[in-house]
Amino acid sequence: MEFRGLEKGDIEKIVRLRREYYECMGEKLTVPSLEKFKSDLEKQVMNQRLVIADDDGFAGAIFLEDRDGADVYVKTLQVEPEKRGLGIGTALLKEAEDWAKSIGATSMTLTVKPENTIAKELYENKGFKLYRYLMKKDLEE
Ligand SMILES: CC(C)(COP(=O)(O)OP(=O)(O)OC[C@H]1O[C@@H](n2cnc3c(N)ncnc32)[C@H](O)[C@@H]1OP(=O)(O)O)[C@@H](O)C(=O)NCCC(=O)NCCS
Repeated sequence: MEFRGLEKGDIEKIVRLRREYYECMGEKLTVPSLEKFKSDLEKQVMNQRLVIADDDGFAGAIFLEDRDGADVYVKTLQVEPEKRGLGIGTALLKEAEDWAKSIGATSMTLTVKPENTIAKELYENKGFKLYRYLMKKDLEE
């Protein structure tokens, strides 16, 4: 498996994975939020890095943002459903950590839903610890 930078054809795949992920989690994904995500991918400014796992085609992606020079935020980590459980997510996270270290960051941060046990365990096994609760109130209920 190789790692590479973003190519134009990857964007629709990443957006599709995001849509599927939200559906699977039973969460609402508004059109503006998806459009912003897509335009962030397209822009990829200086302090961002997107790594694609390529095993003869698109296998998954991790999108990172260096927010303050010290902490790197994982904006998204996704692996194609049929390619999960093969170590790709772990490898992408390792690539992310190597990049974070290479730019002098001292920590990494991400959010994960409590019921997303696979991702939560992956992060915990790689040394991530609970740092803060993100609290949300649904105003439409
Ligand atoms: C979370 C995700 C990125 C992991 O990617 P992956 O390539 O399957 O991860 P890996 O193959 O490296 O496996 C990581 C760990 O998860 C476990 N795992 C993977 N798929 C699993 C499954 N279906 N059931 C149980 N455990 C599973 C592996 O056993 C492994 O544990 P180990 O390190 O103790 O062996 C992938 O499941 C995914 O894209 N999920 C949907 C999007 C998502 O939830 N992203 C994270 C949002 S915060």
